[in-house]
Amino acid sequence: MSMSAVAPAIARSMAGSSFIRKMFEKGIELKKQFGEDAVCDFSLGNPDVPPPARARDELIRIADAAIKPLGLGYCPNAGIPSVREDIANHLAKQQETDLSAGDVIMTVGAAGAMVSFFRAVLEPGDEVITPAPYFVEYGSYCGHFGGVLRAVPSIPPAFDPDIDAIAVAITPNTRAIIVNSPNNPTGCIYSAKVMRRIADMVDSVNGERANIPGARPLFLLSDEPYRAFAFDGASVPPVLPLTKWACVLGSFSKTLSLAGERIGYFVANPSMPDQQSLMAAVTLTNRTLGYVNAPVIGQRMAAALVSESVDLEIYDRRRRLMAKVLSEAGVEFAMPKGAFYFFAKSPVADDSVFVDELLKERILVVPGKGFGFAGYVRLSCSVDEAIIARSAEGFKRTMQKFNR
Ligand SMILES: Cc1ncc(COP(=O)(O)O)c(C=O)c1O
Repeated sequence: MSMSAVAPAIARSMAGSSFIRKMFEKGIELKKQFGEDAVCDFSLGNPDVPPPARARDELIRIADAAIKPLGLGYCPNAGIPSVREDIANHLAKQQETDLSAGDVIMTVGAAGAMVSFFRAVLEPGDEVITPAPYFVEYGSYCGHFGGVLRAVPSIPPAFDPDIDAIAVAITPNTRAIIVNSPNNPTGCIYSAKVMRRIADMVDSVNGERANIPGARPLFLLSDEPYRAFAFDGASVPPVLPLTKWACVLGSFSKTLSLAGERIGYFVANPSMPDQQSLMAAVTLTNRTLGYVNAPVIGQRMAAALVSESVDLEIYDRRRRLMAKVLSEAGVEFAMPKGAFYFFAKSPVADDSVFVDELLKERILVVPGKGFGFAGYVRLSCSVDEAIIARSAEGFKRTMQKFNR
Protein backbone atom coordinates (compact mmCIF):
# COMPACT_ATOMS: atom_id res chain seq x y z
CA MET A 1 0.00 0.00 0.00
CA SER A 2 1.43 3.38 -0.90
CA MET A 3 1.55 6.16 1.65
CA SER A 4 -0.05 9.50 0.87
CA ALA A 5 2.50 12.29 0.51
CA VAL A 6 -0.14 14.99 0.73
CA ALA A 7 -2.03 16.10 3.84
CA PRO A 8 -5.71 15.03 3.64
CA ALA A 9 -7.03 18.62 3.78
CA ILE A 10 -4.87 19.64 0.83
CA ALA A 11 -5.77 16.47 -1.08
CA ARG A 12 -9.45 17.43 -0.63
CA SER A 13 -8.69 20.94 -1.80
CA MET A 14 -6.90 19.59 -4.88
CA ALA A 15 -9.86 17.34 -5.72
CA GLY A 16 -12.26 20.27 -5.24
CA SER A 17 -10.42 22.49 -7.70
CA SER A 18 -9.88 19.76 -10.30
CA PHE A 19 -12.41 21.26 -12.73
CA ILE A 20 -10.47 24.55 -12.80
CA ARG A 21 -7.35 22.58 -13.62
CA LYS A 22 -9.33 20.68 -16.25
CA MET A 23 -10.37 23.99 -17.85
CA PHE A 24 -6.82 25.22 -17.77
CA GLU A 25 -5.49 22.04 -19.39
CA LYS A 26 -8.26 22.02 -21.96
CA GLY A 27 -7.35 25.61 -22.86
CA ILE A 28 -3.70 24.69 -23.41
CA GLU A 29 -4.74 21.68 -25.50
CA LEU A 30 -7.12 23.74 -27.67
CA LYS A 31 -4.53 26.47 -28.20
CA LYS A 32 -1.95 23.86 -29.22
CA GLN A 33 -4.39 22.20 -31.60
CA PHE A 34 -6.01 25.24 -33.21
CA GLY A 35 -3.57 28.09 -32.45
CA GLU A 36 -3.68 30.80 -29.78
CA ASP A 37 -5.93 33.03 -31.86
CA ALA A 38 -8.60 30.41 -32.42
CA VAL A 39 -9.42 30.11 -28.70
CA CYS A 40 -11.51 32.69 -26.82
CA ASP A 41 -10.12 32.29 -23.32
CA PHE A 42 -12.30 34.14 -20.80
CA SER A 43 -11.18 31.94 -17.92
CA LEU A 44 -8.18 33.89 -16.66
CA GLY A 45 -7.96 36.85 -14.32
CA ASN A 46 -4.42 37.83 -15.27
CA PRO A 47 -4.51 41.58 -16.09
CA ASP A 48 -3.18 41.93 -19.65
CA VAL A 49 -3.39 45.73 -20.09
CA PRO A 50 0.17 47.13 -19.99
CA PRO A 51 1.37 48.87 -16.80
CA PRO A 52 1.52 52.70 -16.96
CA ALA A 53 4.43 53.90 -19.13
CA ARG A 54 6.16 55.38 -16.10
CA ALA A 55 6.64 51.86 -14.68
CA ARG A 56 9.59 51.51 -17.04
CA ASP A 57 11.27 54.74 -15.85
CA GLU A 58 10.70 53.66 -12.28
CA LEU A 59 12.29 50.26 -12.90
CA ILE A 60 15.34 51.95 -14.43
CA ARG A 61 15.63 54.20 -11.39
CA ILE A 62 15.33 51.16 -9.12
CA ALA A 63 17.93 49.32 -11.21
CA ASP A 64 20.41 52.17 -10.75
CA ALA A 65 19.97 52.00 -6.98
CA ALA A 66 19.94 48.19 -6.89
CA ILE A 67 23.69 47.70 -7.17
CA LYS A 68 24.37 49.61 -3.96
CA PRO A 69 24.99 47.45 -0.88
CA LEU A 70 21.60 46.18 0.38
CA GLY A 71 19.96 47.67 -2.71
CA LEU A 72 17.82 44.55 -2.91
CA GLY A 73 18.33 43.33 0.64
CA TYR A 74 15.77 42.39 3.28
CA CYS A 75 13.78 45.37 4.51
CA PRO A 76 11.80 45.92 7.73
CA ASN A 77 9.10 43.23 7.88
CA ALA A 78 6.22 45.71 7.61
CA GLY A 79 7.80 47.42 4.60
CA ILE A 80 10.18 50.22 3.63
CA PRO A 81 9.32 53.13 5.99
CA SER A 82 9.11 55.78 3.23
CA VAL A 83 6.93 53.46 1.11
CA ARG A 84 4.54 52.86 4.03
CA GLU A 85 4.33 56.61 4.46
CA ASP A 86 3.57 57.24 0.78
CA ILE A 87 0.91 54.54 0.73
CA ALA A 88 -0.57 55.87 4.00
CA ASN A 89 -0.82 59.37 2.51
CA HIS A 90 -2.56 58.03 -0.57
CA LEU A 91 -4.95 55.86 1.43
CA ALA A 92 -5.77 58.69 3.83
CA LYS A 93 -7.35 60.53 0.90
CA GLN A 94 -8.93 57.46 -0.67
CA GLN A 95 -10.36 56.16 2.62
CA GLU A 96 -11.14 59.60 4.10
CA THR A 97 -9.33 58.61 7.31
CA ASP A 98 -6.23 59.98 9.07
CA LEU A 99 -3.52 57.40 8.47
CA SER A 100 0.20 57.24 9.10
CA ALA A 101 2.94 54.79 8.11
CA GLY A 102 2.29 52.73 11.25
CA ASP A 103 -1.23 51.92 10.05
CA VAL A 104 -0.01 50.27 6.84
CA ILE A 105 1.85 46.98 6.25
CA MET A 106 3.20 46.18 2.80
CA THR A 107 2.27 42.61 1.82
CA VAL A 108 2.64 39.96 -0.86
CA GLY A 109 -0.50 41.08 -2.71
CA ALA A 110 -3.95 41.33 -1.16
CA ALA A 111 -3.72 37.55 -0.91
CA GLY A 112 -0.66 37.72 1.36
CA ALA A 113 -2.39 40.40 3.42
CA MET A 114 -5.41 38.18 3.97
CA VAL A 115 -3.38 35.09 4.85
CA SER A 116 -1.25 37.08 7.33
CA PHE A 117 -4.39 38.62 8.87
CA PHE A 118 -6.09 35.25 9.29
CA ARG A 119 -2.94 33.75 10.84
CA ALA A 120 -2.94 36.66 13.30
CA VAL A 121 -6.59 36.45 14.41
CA LEU A 122 -8.03 32.97 13.77
CA GLU A 123 -8.28 30.06 16.17
CA PRO A 124 -9.27 26.64 14.81
CA GLY A 125 -13.06 26.54 14.52
CA ASP A 126 -13.40 30.30 14.06
CA GLU A 127 -15.72 31.31 11.25
CA VAL A 128 -15.39 33.79 8.40
CA ILE A 129 -18.45 34.97 6.48
CA THR A 130 -18.41 35.92 2.81
CA PRO A 131 -21.22 36.74 0.42
CA ALA A 132 -21.37 34.19 -2.42
CA PRO A 133 -20.28 33.94 -5.17
CA TYR A 134 -16.78 34.69 -3.93
CA PHE A 135 -13.09 34.48 -4.82
CA VAL A 136 -12.62 30.79 -4.16
CA GLU A 137 -9.20 31.10 -2.47
CA TYR A 138 -10.88 32.64 0.61
CA GLY A 139 -11.69 29.08 1.77
CA SER A 140 -8.02 28.09 1.74
CA TYR A 141 -6.78 31.39 3.16
CA CYS A 142 -8.76 30.87 6.36
CA GLY A 143 -8.79 27.06 6.17
CA HIS A 144 -5.00 26.89 6.54
CA PHE A 145 -5.45 27.99 10.15
CA GLY A 146 -8.53 25.95 10.99
CA GLY A 147 -10.93 28.74 10.04
CA VAL A 148 -14.23 27.80 8.42
CA LEU A 149 -15.65 29.86 5.55
CA ARG A 150 -19.41 30.42 5.70
CA ALA A 151 -20.75 31.53 2.31
CA VAL A 152 -24.03 33.47 2.32
CA PRO A 153 -25.71 33.61 -1.11
CA SER A 154 -26.09 37.11 -2.56
CA ILE A 155 -29.22 38.20 -4.38
CA PRO A 156 -29.32 37.71 -8.18
CA PRO A 157 -29.36 39.20 -10.71
CA ALA A 158 -27.15 42.09 -9.46
CA PHE A 159 -25.70 40.07 -6.54
CA ASP A 160 -26.05 42.61 -3.78
CA PRO A 161 -25.26 40.94 -0.46
CA ASP A 162 -28.17 39.50 1.54
CA ILE A 163 -27.57 41.46 4.73
CA ASP A 164 -30.36 39.83 6.75
CA ALA A 165 -28.99 36.39 5.89
CA ILE A 166 -25.49 37.53 6.88
CA ALA A 167 -26.88 38.68 10.24
CA VAL A 168 -28.40 35.24 10.80
CA ALA A 169 -25.09 33.53 9.88
CA ILE A 170 -23.11 35.37 12.58
CA THR A 171 -22.24 33.19 15.60
CA PRO A 172 -20.03 33.86 18.65
CA ASN A 173 -17.22 32.21 16.64
CA THR A 174 -17.49 34.58 13.67
CA ARG A 175 -14.22 36.48 13.43
CA ALA A 176 -14.59 38.35 10.15
CA ILE A 177 -16.99 39.32 7.39
CA ILE A 178 -15.24 39.66 4.02
CA VAL A 179 -16.62 42.18 1.57
CA ASN A 180 -15.18 42.37 -1.93
CA SER A 181 -16.48 45.37 -3.87
CA PRO A 182 -16.09 45.78 -6.82
CA ASN A 183 -16.68 42.07 -6.76
CA ASN A 184 -14.95 39.13 -8.36
CA PRO A 185 -16.84 37.37 -9.97
CA THR A 186 -20.05 39.45 -10.18
CA GLY A 187 -18.77 42.98 -10.88
CA CYS A 188 -21.24 44.26 -8.26
CA ILE A 189 -20.29 47.48 -6.43
CA TYR A 190 -21.82 47.71 -2.96
CA SER A 191 -23.57 51.03 -2.36
CA ALA A 192 -22.74 53.31 0.56
CA LYS A 193 -26.06 52.31 2.11
CA VAL A 194 -25.31 48.58 1.87
CA MET A 195 -21.84 49.09 3.34
CA ARG A 196 -23.31 51.24 6.14
CA ARG A 197 -25.72 48.46 7.09
CA ILE A 198 -22.97 45.83 7.18
CA ALA A 199 -20.70 48.10 9.23
CA ASP A 200 -23.52 48.89 11.70
CA MET A 201 -24.09 45.17 12.12
CA VAL A 202 -20.39 44.67 12.90
CA ASP A 203 -20.53 47.51 15.46
CA SER A 204 -23.61 46.11 17.12
CA VAL A 205 -22.11 42.59 17.40
CA ASN A 206 -18.90 44.02 18.89
CA GLY A 207 -20.97 46.17 21.27
CA GLU A 208 -22.55 43.00 22.64
CA ARG A 209 -19.26 41.09 22.75
CA ALA A 210 -17.63 43.88 24.77
CA ASN A 211 -19.70 42.71 27.76
CA ILE A 212 -18.71 39.07 27.41
CA PRO A 213 -15.48 38.07 29.20
CA GLY A 214 -12.95 36.50 26.80
CA ALA A 215 -14.94 37.40 23.68
CA ARG A 216 -12.94 38.37 20.60
CA PRO A 217 -13.97 40.97 18.03
CA LEU A 218 -15.68 40.66 14.66
CA PHE A 219 -13.70 42.42 11.92
CA LEU A 220 -14.98 43.92 8.68
CA LEU A 221 -12.44 42.87 6.08
CA SER A 222 -12.62 44.83 2.84
CA ASP A 223 -10.80 43.00 0.03
CA GLU A 224 -10.49 45.66 -2.64
CA PRO A 225 -8.06 44.84 -5.46
CA TYR A 226 -10.60 46.25 -7.94
CA ARG A 227 -11.33 49.59 -6.22
CA ALA A 228 -10.23 51.60 -9.29
CA PHE A 229 -12.37 49.53 -11.65
CA ALA A 230 -15.68 51.41 -11.41
CA PHE A 231 -17.64 52.29 -14.55
CA ASP A 232 -20.72 54.23 -15.65
CA GLY A 233 -19.87 56.91 -13.07
CA ALA A 234 -20.14 54.43 -10.17
CA SER A 235 -18.10 55.18 -7.06
CA VAL A 236 -16.74 52.78 -4.47
CA PRO A 237 -17.40 54.22 -0.99
CA PRO A 238 -14.47 54.22 1.44
CA VAL A 239 -14.75 51.46 4.05
CA LEU A 240 -12.40 52.53 6.86
CA PRO A 241 -14.63 55.37 8.14
CA LEU A 242 -17.65 53.05 8.48
CA THR A 243 -16.50 51.18 11.58
CA LYS A 244 -13.46 51.18 13.82
CA TRP A 245 -13.35 47.40 13.21
CA ALA A 246 -12.60 47.82 9.49
CA CYS A 247 -9.45 46.54 7.79
CA VAL A 248 -8.66 47.11 4.12
CA LEU A 249 -6.67 44.73 1.95
CA GLY A 250 -5.44 46.38 -1.21
CA SER A 251 -3.38 45.46 -4.19
CA PHE A 252 -1.53 46.83 -7.18
CA SER A 253 -1.99 43.61 -9.16
CA LYS A 254 -4.87 44.97 -11.22
CA THR A 255 -4.61 48.76 -10.97
CA LEU A 256 -0.99 48.78 -12.16
CA SER A 257 -0.96 45.34 -13.89
CA LEU A 258 1.75 44.22 -11.46
CA ALA A 259 0.10 40.91 -10.52
CA GLY A 260 3.23 38.82 -10.92
CA GLU A 261 5.31 41.19 -8.81
CA ARG A 262 3.06 40.37 -5.81
CA ILE A 263 2.54 43.67 -4.06
CA GLY A 264 -0.31 44.86 -1.86
CA TYR A 265 -1.02 46.17 1.63
CA PHE A 266 -2.92 45.73 4.85
CA VAL A 267 -4.39 48.71 6.71
CA ALA A 268 -6.42 48.74 9.90
CA ASN A 269 -8.56 51.61 11.17
CA PRO A 270 -6.37 53.56 13.65
CA SER A 271 -9.33 53.96 16.02
CA MET A 272 -9.72 50.20 16.40
CA PRO A 273 -9.18 49.19 20.03
CA ASP A 274 -5.75 47.52 20.34
CA GLN A 275 -4.97 48.40 16.71
CA GLN A 276 -1.20 48.55 17.30
CA SER A 277 -1.22 44.98 18.68
CA LEU A 278 -3.04 43.83 15.55
CA MET A 279 -0.51 45.66 13.35
CA ALA A 280 2.37 44.05 15.28
CA ALA A 281 0.71 40.63 14.98
CA VAL A 282 0.21 40.92 11.20
CA THR A 283 3.80 42.15 10.84
CA LEU A 284 4.93 39.04 12.73
CA THR A 285 2.78 36.58 10.78
CA ASN A 286 3.76 38.20 7.47
CA ARG A 287 7.33 37.40 8.51
CA THR A 288 6.87 33.94 9.99
CA LEU A 289 4.62 32.61 7.23
CA GLY A 290 7.76 32.94 5.18
CA TYR A 291 6.89 36.10 3.27
CA VAL A 292 9.47 37.92 5.51
CA ASN A 293 8.75 41.22 3.73
CA ALA A 294 6.91 42.23 0.57
CA PRO A 295 9.11 42.33 -2.58
CA VAL A 296 11.19 45.52 -2.44
CA ILE A 297 11.00 46.25 -6.17
CA GLY A 298 7.21 46.04 -6.01
CA GLN A 299 7.17 48.28 -2.92
CA ARG A 300 9.17 50.99 -4.65
CA MET A 301 7.09 50.76 -7.81
CA ALA A 302 3.85 50.89 -5.82
CA ALA A 303 4.98 54.01 -3.95
CA ALA A 304 6.08 55.76 -7.14
CA LEU A 305 2.95 54.88 -9.14
CA VAL A 306 0.35 54.84 -6.35
CA SER A 307 -1.76 57.60 -7.86
CA GLU A 308 -1.68 56.15 -11.38
CA SER A 309 -3.52 53.27 -12.98
CA VAL A 310 -3.61 51.28 -16.17
CA ASP A 311 -5.84 52.63 -18.96
CA LEU A 312 -9.26 51.83 -17.51
CA GLU A 313 -10.92 52.93 -20.77
CA ILE A 314 -9.64 49.70 -22.32
CA TYR A 315 -11.48 47.64 -19.71
CA ASP A 316 -14.61 49.75 -20.13
CA ARG A 317 -14.63 49.22 -23.91
CA ARG A 318 -14.24 45.48 -23.42
CA ARG A 319 -17.04 45.50 -20.86
CA ARG A 320 -19.42 47.20 -23.28
CA LEU A 321 -18.44 44.91 -26.14
CA MET A 322 -18.87 41.78 -23.99
CA ALA A 323 -22.30 43.03 -22.92
CA LYS A 324 -23.26 43.43 -26.58
CA VAL A 325 -21.98 39.97 -27.53
CA LEU A 326 -23.82 38.29 -24.66
CA SER A 327 -27.06 40.25 -25.17
CA GLU A 328 -27.14 39.47 -28.88
CA ALA A 329 -26.70 35.78 -28.11
CA GLY A 330 -29.51 35.89 -25.55
CA VAL A 331 -27.29 35.21 -22.50
CA GLU A 332 -28.76 36.75 -19.32
CA PHE A 333 -26.53 38.85 -17.08
CA ALA A 334 -26.55 41.98 -14.90
CA MET A 335 -24.29 44.66 -16.34
CA PRO A 336 -21.19 44.70 -14.10
CA LYS A 337 -20.49 48.17 -12.69
CA GLY A 338 -17.00 47.25 -11.57
CA ALA A 339 -14.02 44.88 -11.79
CA PHE A 340 -13.61 43.15 -15.17
CA TYR A 341 -15.82 40.09 -14.98
CA PHE A 342 -19.30 39.05 -16.09
CA PHE A 343 -21.27 36.56 -14.03
CA ALA A 344 -23.74 35.34 -16.63
CA LYS A 345 -26.67 32.98 -16.18
CA SER A 346 -26.33 29.51 -17.59
CA PRO A 347 -29.27 28.55 -19.83
CA VAL A 348 -29.29 25.14 -18.04
CA ALA A 349 -29.25 24.55 -14.28
CA ASP A 350 -25.99 22.60 -14.46
CA ASP A 351 -23.44 25.27 -15.41
CA SER A 352 -20.84 22.65 -16.36
CA VAL A 353 -23.10 21.59 -19.28
CA PHE A 354 -23.01 25.20 -20.56
CA VAL A 355 -19.23 25.33 -20.00
CA ASP A 356 -18.76 22.11 -22.00
CA GLU A 357 -20.93 23.34 -24.87
CA LEU A 358 -18.97 26.62 -25.01
CA LEU A 359 -15.75 24.60 -25.05
CA LYS A 360 -16.94 22.99 -28.31
CA GLU A 361 -16.93 26.55 -29.72
CA ARG A 362 -13.45 27.05 -28.25
CA ILE A 363 -14.80 29.51 -25.70
CA LEU A 364 -13.41 29.07 -22.21
CA VAL A 365 -15.36 30.25 -19.15
CA VAL A 366 -15.34 29.18 -15.49
CA PRO A 367 -18.37 27.42 -13.96
CA GLY A 368 -20.15 29.39 -11.22
CA LYS A 369 -19.88 26.49 -8.80
CA GLY A 370 -16.16 27.27 -8.73
CA PHE A 371 -17.20 30.51 -6.97
CA GLY A 372 -19.74 28.87 -4.68
CA PHE A 373 -22.75 29.78 -6.83
CA ALA A 374 -24.02 27.24 -9.35
CA GLY A 375 -26.12 28.05 -12.40
CA TYR A 376 -23.83 30.82 -13.64
CA VAL A 377 -20.48 31.16 -15.41
CA ARG A 378 -17.74 33.75 -15.01
CA LEU A 379 -16.18 35.48 -17.97
CA SER A 380 -13.06 37.55 -17.52
CA CYS A 381 -12.44 40.56 -19.78
CA SER A 382 -8.67 40.45 -19.42
CA VAL A 383 -8.44 39.70 -23.14
CA ASP A 384 -8.29 41.80 -26.27
CA GLU A 385 -11.47 43.25 -27.80
CA ALA A 386 -10.79 41.24 -30.97
CA ILE A 387 -11.18 38.00 -29.00
CA ILE A 388 -14.44 39.17 -27.42
CA ALA A 389 -15.75 40.08 -30.88
CA ARG A 390 -14.66 36.73 -32.28
CA SER A 391 -16.63 34.84 -29.62
CA ALA A 392 -19.97 36.31 -30.78
CA GLU A 393 -20.92 33.56 -33.22
CA GLY A 394 -19.90 30.79 -30.81
CA PHE A 395 -22.12 32.24 -28.07
CA LYS A 396 -25.03 32.52 -30.52
CA ARG A 397 -24.69 28.94 -31.77
CA THR A 398 -24.42 27.62 -28.21
CA MET A 399 -27.48 29.51 -27.00
CA GLN A 400 -29.47 28.31 -30.03
CA LYS A 401 -28.83 24.70 -28.94
CA PHE A 402 -30.46 25.41 -25.56
CA ASN A 403 -33.35 27.42 -26.99
CA ARG A 404 -34.41 24.83 -29.52
C1 LIG B 1 -11.24 39.16 -5.04
C2 LIG B 1 -9.77 38.97 -5.06
N1 LIG B 1 -9.10 39.07 -3.91
C3 LIG B 1 -7.76 38.92 -3.87
C4 LIG B 1 -7.04 38.63 -5.01
C5 LIG B 1 -5.56 38.46 -4.88
O1 LIG B 1 -4.91 39.56 -5.41
P1 LIG B 1 -3.36 39.83 -5.23
O2 LIG B 1 -2.72 39.58 -6.54
O3 LIG B 1 -3.28 41.24 -4.79
O4 LIG B 1 -2.86 38.90 -4.17
C6 LIG B 1 -7.69 38.50 -6.22
C7 LIG B 1 -6.96 38.16 -7.46
O5 LIG B 1 -7.48 37.85 -8.48
C8 LIG B 1 -9.10 38.68 -6.26
O6 LIG B 1 -9.79 38.55 -7.41
